[in-house]
Amino acid sequence: MVNPTYSPKSPHVSVMLDEIINLSNPEKGGIFVDCTFGGGGLSKKILQFSNTKVIAFDRDKIILNFAKDLKKKYPTRFSFFQNKFSQIHNIVNDQLADVIIFDLGLSSIQLNDLKRGFSFKSEQALDMSMGLTNLSAEDVVNNYSEKKLKLIIKILGEEKDASKIAKNIIKSRATKKITRANQLAEIINKSKKRNYSQKINPSTKTFQALRIFVNKEITELVMGIANATKILRPGGKILVISFHSIEDKIVKYFFNNFSLNRSNPSRYFPENKKNNINLFERYKNQIIKPSNIEIIKNPPSRSAKLRYAIRSKNSFIFPEKMKIKFKRYLDLERSHA
Ligand SMILES: C[S@@+](CC[C@H](N)C(=O)[O-])C[C@H]1O[C@@H](n2cnc3c(N)ncnc32)[C@H](O)[C@@H]1O
Repeated sequence: MVNPTYSPKSPHVSVMLDEIINLSNPEKGGIFVDCTFGGGGLSKKILQFSNTKVIAFDRDKIILNFAKDLKKKYPTRFSFFQNKFSQIHNIVNDQLADVIIFDLGLSSIQLNDLKRGFSFKSEQALDMSMGLTNLSAEDVVNNYSEKKLKLIIKILGEEKDASKIAKNIIKSRATKKITRANQLAEIINKSKKRNYSQKINPSTKTFQALRIFVNKEITELVMGIANATKILRPGGKILVISFHSIEDKIVKYFFNNFSLNRSNPSRYFPENKKNNINLFERYKNQIIKPSNIEIIKNPPSRSAKLRYAIRSKNSFIFPEKMKIKFKRYLDLERSHA
């Protein structure tokens, strides 16, 4: 059954809530870390099970009131940190978690707040910060070189028309500063070849790229899931809902290559060159997707993919290979104008 968690006090419908609850067994109690609190729908659901404790994170201060409401209701079982989830191991450092959940991306609360500039319909500021970053999309589109803009749009947005879009951004900003989201959307529209079979808005990929860059989302994901594994108890579960292919690629690589059945090294590979860090038990390369009913009720859920892995008994060693594998993205996010 789909759980419609929408209410005016929590205007974000949690994605795959039933699937997460079924996989994480809150009826057994335990310590749950909700790395992406958002509208709080998931934390709220877990707290309905009386033997659970929830430690929640979100980088955005917009959700502080939802967190305060839950704290009032569950003063001893709920705690909230306005922080980035890459810092999870520095905050949850005196206990091990039973379940850690990441529901990546934006909430509808952020998307529908037009002054944040996440939506290409917005006639307001081109900001795109999710909180705890000094950068805005306006800084990037008005100050970064054509070469850097092209790389951001191509690599983080997987946009094939990145060159043309970057060129037109430079041309346009020479006459007028780009300050509104819909102004940027217009430049992108003009740069893209008309393809009427395309179902997604022409601006989707460029907006995704800028949002990822402004918030350093790939660095956050790589560091977040690695550091979360450090504080997960043996037998505990890590669950990640991703919304685009770069995110899913990273999660799949991490679970696959650091599990007991890692598919990576061949038996012909010298023993000492094999990746010997087994952080997870046998990983079933399984993707769980929202049901058709959920997609109809909540269309933004359509691109969601849920993967999970179970922590092994082995002690934690930081999976440095992740940083090498995804270096291209991490270097790009670290770079400046
Ligand atoms: C899709 S929403 C989560 C919705 C939530 N599961 C619910 O049931 O309402 C994602 C949330 O994660 C937050 N977020 C994204 N990246 C983050 C990060 N690196 N650290 C902390 N919070 C982050 C966003 O600000 C947003 O509020």
